[in-house]
Amino acid sequence: MDTARITLNEELRIGDVDPRLYGSFVEHLGRAVYGGIFEPGHPLADEDGFRQDVLELIRALRVPIVRYPGGNFVSGYNWEDGIGPREQRPRRLDLAWRAVETNQFGVDEFAAWCRRARTEPLLAVNLGTRGVDAARNLIEYCNHPGGSYWSDLRKANGAAEPHGIKSWCLGNEMDGPWQIGQKSADEYGRLSRETAKAMRWVDPEIELVACGSSNSGMPTFGAWEHTVLDHTYDQVDYISLHTYYGNPQRDTGNFLAKSLDMDRFIESVVAICDAVKGRKRGKKSINLSFDEWNVWFHTKESDRRMEPWQVAPPQLEDCYTFEDALLVGCMLISLLKHADRVKIACLAQLVNVIAPIQTATGGGCWRQTIYYPFYHASRFGRGAALRVNAVSPTYDDREFGAVPCVEAVATLDSDAETLTLFAVNRSMGDDLRLEGDLRGFPDYSVLEHITMTHPDLQAVNTLQNPDTVTPGVGGNAAVEGGLLLATLPRLSWNVIRLVKGVRGG
Ligand code: AHR
Repeated sequence: MDTARITLNEELRIGDVDPRLYGSFVEHLGRAVYGGIFEPGHPLADEDGFRQDVLELIRALRVPIVRYPGGNFVSGYNWEDGIGPREQRPRRLDLAWRAVETNQFGVDEFAAWCRRARTEPLLAVNLGTRGVDAARNLIEYCNHPGGSYWSDLRKANGAAEPHGIKSWCLGNEMDGPWQIGQKSADEYGRLSRETAKAMRWVDPEIELVACGSSNSGMPTFGAWEHTVLDHTYDQVDYISLHTYYGNPQRDTGNFLAKSLDMDRFIESVVAICDAVKGRKRGKKSINLSFDEWNVWFHTKESDRRMEPWQVAPPQLEDCYTFEDALLVGCMLISLLKHADRVKIACLAQLVNVIAPIQTATGGGCWRQTIYYPFYHASRFGRGAALRVNAVSPTYDDREFGAVPCVEAVATLDSDAETLTLFAVNRSMGDDLRLEGDLRGFPDYSVLEHITMTHPDLQAVNTLQNPDTVTPGVGGNAAVEGGLLLATLPRLSWNVIRLVKGVRGG
């Protein structure tokens, strides 16, 4: 059996993991809201129409922040349509997803739902069809205590206390031709700076995310970030990154290596942020909000054929395979490897729409395959992120060249005295032997070794068979003579949890 070697040492510290690295995203799109988190009349809905079975699965994920209401949707959204008496709310054409939006769920419902889900909102403002005025009114409605038109309207609508929304996105993917109100980098840079200024005048405590490129393949990638930050450097805290990967050609080796592209993407944006900082002789660093990431390709073709102008049609309902879960694991590792600069990240999305959680309208809900790596990372990947300097066998790929079979990172929770290693074995060949130099943690022992493997890369979880792909605790990791030894099965997701002293088995 070939060996992969790693080093576990506190000196390899990358940075503190911001809990918001485990954020997610709910857009007014398909059945994410209607039939997803909100389904009045469902047997498990509470008095506000929030599905409690879905809430339970979300709370288990410990998602600290949820982006809302879009996505592409936000660029045509009038937030005022979603407040006040429900029967008076207008039905509108949503041009982004060619659906009818009933506005039965809006910002007040979202704020209430967030409290129930034990999460914080990351609210996006519309900089497609709207601008400074709508954004300053929205923040006044949400965050001003009272005594003004919009804050008093919030109170009249039943929310006596301000929603206190701290984190805001200045539009969505404004470089994309598919976006309503697409802008050049200069147009967007100026508009987002002026919007940011006005929003901060209403509430100086907020944090703001400027739109980066829609993905690293955009022709203006790099130049866009540079120009936008040139305009907004003093007014914003983060720049956004979005990426989705797919495997339409069924090339597993290439697909599982896509997280290397994510690494490169992050490192390029960090370089641009720092270049702008240097040129401006700036004092603060602009950090990264990777506020859309996931696998997305299964439904792209069928969604194109969907009948337009339906209410909450089943759009983007990718049914995730075991193979997809492996890449999601690699992407989580990529985020953790850049925890010093990626402070917010949102798995896109949360329920039904390219999501870890799936529901049947009127029926049950279940965990997709990708739920599990996210669950493990969110629960155990807290504290400080540690590089592990993996040296592993490689395989050749047409796009990435020599791809390391093992992708890995560790986190150290000093308070709980736990050390967690996350590792994917991408190898399609054999199992690998892991040898970890544990000299940095001489008195740690293995608490558990979780693995997720499956003989069929295309295996999925469904309503009828929800547990086809699930993790187990059958891994063989152990500490022997100062070494962490384990077998990483071929094509597997591994979570090896160590604890100070001898508490584990
Ligand atoms: O998450 C689905 C869509 O992907 C979002 O609406 C958009 O921002 C991105 O292109």
